[in-house]
Amino acid sequence: MRVLGIETSCDETSAAIVSGTPEAMSLDALVILSQDVHRLFGGVVPEIASRQHLTGIVPAVNAALRDAGVTMGNLDAIAVTHAPGLVGALLVGTSYAKAMAFAHGKPVVPVHHLEGHLFATLLEHPDAKPPFTALLVSGGHTLLLDVPEWGRYQLLGQTRDDAVGEAFDKVAKLLGLPYPGGRPVEQLAATGESPSHGHPHHFARPMLRRRAVIGDEDYYDCSFSGLKTAVLHAVRHADKSGTLEADKPSIARGFQDAVIETLVEKVYRAAKAHRRGRVVLGGGVACNGALQLAMRERFAGRGGQVFAPSPRLATDNAAMIAAAGLFRVLRGEHAEPTMTATASLPIPGMF
Ligand code: KG4
Ligand code: ZN
Repeated sequence: MRVLGIETSCDETSAAIVSGTPEAMSLDALVILSQDVHRLFGGVVPEIASRQHLTGIVPAVNAALRDAGVTMGNLDAIAVTHAPGLVGALLVGTSYAKAMAFAHGKPVVPVHHLEGHLFATLLEHPDAKPPFTALLVSGGHTLLLDVPEWGRYQLLGQTRDDAVGEAFDKVAKLLGLPYPGGRPVEQLAATGESPSHGHPHHFARPMLRRRAVIGDEDYYDCSFSGLKTAVLHAVRHADKSGTLEADKPSIARGFQDAVIETLVEKVYRAAKAHRRGRVVLGGGVACNGALQLAMRERFAGRGGQVFAPSPRLATDNAAMIAAAGLFRVLRGEHAEPTMTATASLPIPGMF
């Protein structure tokens, strides 16, 4: 089975070729055209994103086919992200995929972007397979899932407000760092001391009551907007005192520490409750080395394994879409000609 994957849900135009089976998958080609233009605006501008996908999609797919040494005739299916995301951006991918599929007589299979993120790690770590606890942390989503098998996803918790990546991006802005802010904040935090209890940059951990029990609304859910506001106050205070430049590493570290402690605890609770020995991280924030390290340290005592994709596969890419598509094609799924882009949609098989 050989699948072409296409991803255009946000600001990466990506095409990839994946072959094999979910048990033994090979990544034969991956092309990612990142739309750097959005840095000028401090966030993704939807109309510009759509236009860049239009100019990038044909060269991206052609380059992927060339890199893999195959033609459209050698493919078994085309997998494309159809939801969730920016509708104009998604439409470029879905329209192109349907046209190519029609022209070459291939099935097209729609893939949910977040299911794609769950499959990304499998491309590098064949053991990152269900059952596992999953933490999906991106610019738009923060989901805690129990995954008993591919295609069945139990939603345990999510953010009540900002996604984790969004919080990193907003804090980056407050600290005068570029967009997207996750990596710059991580780098700045690495130069700061971890603020201890009582330190003004030791921020309250959101939704982390020690005595919470399963069934409590805050047992698995998260919230990051209060933390972002605490950072805003710390920045204003430092600015007034004339210490902002010197305080930035400590503020970044305090913010990142609070985020990581919260996420690690929520994932630990979920893995323990469902007796899962494996944890899979996905989404752009999964690139965060400090998060990966803290997660591994927490699970080391239980003999648990923590899997995270490399940065290239953690951020948006078509390889993960092809991987999830391959699983769905093997289940006999394919799209009707009426298939189209959808801005928001639950992951298929979520309960
Ligand atoms: O999954 P992704 O590429 O796109 C979405 O689907 O949103 O995630 C992008 C998000 C951005 O918010 C970015 O700041 C964040 O991932 N990110 C990070 C790191 N690298 C990227 N956050 C924290 N630490 C990082 N090293
Ligand atoms: Zn994503």
